[in-house]
Amino acid sequence: MENIISINVTDRDGTVQQIEIPTDVNMNLMELLKAWDYNILATCGGMALCATCHIEILEGAENLADAGDLELDMLDTLPDASDRSRLACQLHLNSSNNNLSINIKGSL
Ligand code: FES
Repeated sequence: MENIISINVTDRDGTVQQIEIPTDVNMNLMELLKAWDYNILATCGGMALCATCHIEILEGAENLADAGDLELDMLDTLPDASDRSRLACQLHLNSSNNNLSINIKGSL
């Protein structure tokens, strides 16, 4: 099952759930969270333009690719962003991201 990884997701209400997601599909983390019925507006469709897919990385940030300029510029507009903030739509996970832990922050 090397194409399946576990992610710990904390929702806005503090509910923690461990989900298993495939890494061999062409979907970003925002799309995968939506597939798990997390309420993420994603009004820009994954273009790094709306920030409604804002998450914080609680553990595992060292295994993620660095944010690009577009993502950093969008995160800069958020009053509640921190140095752990990312846009889920800009994250494509692989087997090195097993046990990633995130906190959903995006506004509704
Ligand atoms: S879905 Fe709009 S910024 Fe990620």
